[in-house]
Amino acid sequence: MASTFSLLAAIFLLILWAVVWTLCLLGWRTARIRYAHPTLPSRISALSPKAAPGVTIIRPLSGLDENLYNTLQSCMTLDYPKYEVLFALQDENDEALPVVKMVMDKYPEVKARVLIDNTRIGVNPKVNNLIRPFAEASYDLVWVIDSTISVTSGTLGRAVEAFISNNTPYSSLDDPESSQLMSISDDVRKPPMSGEVGLIHQVPIAVCYQNTWGSLIEQAYLNTTHAKMYLAINAVAIDSCVVGKSNLYSRDSISKLNTPAPSLRQSPNPPTGLAAFSLFLAEDNMIGLGLWHQLNLKHAMTSDVALDFLGALSVRDYIDRRVRWLRVRKKMTPLFVTLLEPFTESLVSGLCGAWAVQRLLGASIPALLLVHLAAWLTVDLSTRRALETNIKALKPPGSQAVFLTAWLARECLALPVWLWAMTSDEVVWRGKRYMILSSGAAMTL
Ligand SMILES: *[C@@H]1O[C@H](CO)[C@@H](O)[C@H](O)[C@H]1NC(C)=O
Repeated sequence: MASTFSLLAAIFLLILWAVVWTLCLLGWRTARIRYAHPTLPSRISALSPKAAPGVTIIRPLSGLDENLYNTLQSCMTLDYPKYEVLFALQDENDEALPVVKMVMDKYPEVKARVLIDNTRIGVNPKVNNLIRPFAEASYDLVWVIDSTISVTSGTLGRAVEAFISNNTPYSSLDDPESSQLMSISDDVRKPPMSGEVGLIHQVPIAVCYQNTWGSLIEQAYLNTTHAKMYLAINAVAIDSCVVGKSNLYSRDSISKLNTPAPSLRQSPNPPTGLAAFSLFLAEDNMIGLGLWHQLNLKHAMTSDVALDFLGALSVRDYIDRRVRWLRVRKKMTPLFVTLLEPFTESLVSGLCGAWAVQRLLGASIPALLLVHLAAWLTVDLSTRRALETNIKALKPPGSQAVFLTAWLARECLALPVWLWAMTSDEVVWRGKRYMILSSGAAMTL
């Protein structure tokens, strides 16, 4: 009886281990194929402003983030024929304002505006800060870039190309002879239709000039495991998986979305459009899910990464960050997904796999675990190297020994962090405490 049970458990864990490795290898393969080569300029960047679809870049800002001048500057030097930049603030005394003014003075030729508006419709400060720019954007295509994100100059062209290449431009419906790309101008580009691409995102890579242990561990996480799994899940594409650090979509699509909370959809006047997401802390994930499920719009990624500049984090800050998003996410995903999560981590999956192989074939657990971890680290290093291909000039140098220590610390912390996250539904974000409700919405405490 007991031996039948342990046999079944071993078979189950072996399968789980194989699935996790398949995902890791898929993420790694995607990184090698998509990112490990120099990026090519998009054809669209060479078009005249009249022929290119216009894009409104929105930078929601609050306070002096790490490296703010450089991250803002990166969207003033884009290799793209028609775009405007909206800097959004909620307070005229915000410390980010003088930095915005400096950047705007340096690039007077770029169409840019500052919008200051203290609209507060929900708990999510970023959504509050996006309401006015969404209303005032000149174009239907909007690219929302977080304040800590820096992009390379070709990113926008490749993103727009990926956005429209699968989609039906309006004029080509009438004139099948016309070259698809050349016929697309802002006036004739139709918002994406069901089955087409409705969102472009980039995988984040973490950069930091202040090497505190917390930021090193966060970097080790974002540069390896996070990127690998993000690429793998998006390659499998069974559901939306998006972080909102750099997202391009059509304003028209967003305006068609309903609130993602089923309980709210029953109310007499359910919130719609962008405002519908102000109740959630993870608005990015929710918007991605809304575009995917409500409008049947696909997501696509380009060969660009989003460089995420971290400030000096302590190890405690790192743990709080992970715990926060685990707590938010556990309300948004089915229970079994949350429970399976620890098994996707190197140590837990390695222990399970090693035990299963030992049970079935009789090999040594420590030896199997060692091989597993060495292979895991190799895949992580190779993924990280692939993702760094096109940003070599932008990143501060890092040491391999320090990386290895941070990587190991991250792997060892994964399970305790997950366990800690399961103990409560409360989160602290930018100094405020929230309770995450079962609808996924957040309530200020
Ligand atoms: C993460 O990648 C960035 C960009 O290549 C690099 O600057 C940073 O040093 C890396 N950090 C770690 C800990 O891997």
